[in-house]
Amino acid sequence: MSAIPDLESLHARGAAQQPSYPDRAAVDAAVTKLRTMPPLVFAGECDDLTDKIAAVTRGEAFLLQGGDCAETFAGVTADNVRNKLRVLLQMAVVLTYAGSVPVVKVGRLAGQYAKPRSSDNETRTVDGQSVTLPAYRGDAVNGFEFTPESRVPDPQRLVDVYNASAATLNLVRAFVTGGYADLRQVHTWNTDFVRSSPIGQRYESMAADIERALTFMKAIGADPDEFHRVDFHSSHEALVLEYEHAMTRIDSRTDAPYDVSGHFVWIGERTRQLDGAHVELLSKIRNPIGVKLGPTTSADDAIALAAKLNPDNIPGRLTFITRFGAGKIREGLPDLVEKVTAAGLQVAWVCDPMHGNTFEASSGYKTRKFEDVIDELQGFFDVHRALGTWPGGIHIELTGDDVTECVGGGEELAEIDLGNRYESVCDPRLNRVQSLETAFLVAEMLRKA
Ligand code: PEP
Ligand code: CO
Repeated sequence: MSAIPDLESLHARGAAQQPSYPDRAAVDAAVTKLRTMPPLVFAGECDDLTDKIAAVTRGEAFLLQGGDCAETFAGVTADNVRNKLRVLLQMAVVLTYAGSVPVVKVGRLAGQYAKPRSSDNETRTVDGQSVTLPAYRGDAVNGFEFTPESRVPDPQRLVDVYNASAATLNLVRAFVTGGYADLRQVHTWNTDFVRSSPIGQRYESMAADIERALTFMKAIGADPDEFHRVDFHSSHEALVLEYEHAMTRIDSRTDAPYDVSGHFVWIGERTRQLDGAHVELLSKIRNPIGVKLGPTTSADDAIALAAKLNPDNIPGRLTFITRFGAGKIREGLPDLVEKVTAAGLQVAWVCDPMHGNTFEASSGYKTRKFEDVIDELQGFFDVHRALGTWPGGIHIELTGDDVTECVGGGEELAEIDLGNRYESVCDPRLNRVQSLETAFLVAEMLRKA
């Protein structure tokens, strides 16, 4: 069985995107503490998710992965977690019912606290003076507040990530098994501002259809467990080596290493170097894993990554999450999919229509156009249809709240509206209405696929 590489050897690979901690002893203390903490997820649950993603790989299921770009400690509240779960449950039911396909549900939550950054520093004008500080790298690393104290990387935050993730996952587990995710609740998920929107009305009429079907099933004596609970899984980018390494444990059933900080972990576009630390560590764990592939990825890169990360070519183990941008996907994706498929590689193809479509509005807010998001998704479906491969899922940054971070959509959010409720500490997310609209549009694409 492959051993877990030690932390020093990983760092010796020149790991990208790591915090520069000023105090080594404090890092060691945090890592030592984390190593004593119980797993957040169980290896058997990770295996179950691998089996479900294997069905995605075979073209028999669809993956819905979504949540914040960056979770925050302040965001660990009952309302916030419930709202995110609720929009994901609504999207899943739309995809299942209108798209007629089983949906594998994975949250970008309970661990999504560390961010890769394109620049190590951030410069702002404060009181007329230009001030440069270390970039915010997520609550796992430093504080968002723009002060020298707050931006110093603090390893104790990794222990805080563990605790915040435990609290989030505990609530999610209670919701999904304790009645909240019961299909008979399909109407009650459609609350407040969404209910009155045109898309909310469309959801309402679909929910009524589902309710009639449930009543019918019950009347004939069928009331399976699947109606009353859902399987929901956690995921995050495996970025800070100290955290992921400390949470990698040997499973007593199989003697294999699992990263027990989440069910599914992925490698980001900026840390997918073939000889890099992240690829090395994730090649050793047994979880289902993903790799983000941007527009510069060659088919050879993807094939080499698959050879390293999934040498036994196990279906469900590896997901390629492409994020080309609406303007590039139709041109760039075919070669990748064609050659990976020709090489006989078992991978699930998932579309992240967010990260290739970010731009800065004239007001200075980082934003995305809803229409670009949908266009990239359409391009993804078109490419797979042309090649006869399965468009396996979507990876979305969203929130359960009524934020104003992405422009466009049915509410016709304009750049001028962005300041009304811009709450993301990192990338702009689809709000609840935009998320639901996306689900209906993707369900249509699925029907045609
Ligand atoms: C992200 O998922 O938030 C992210 C940083 O993505 P990428 O690695 O694709 O840029
Ligand atoms: Co992001």
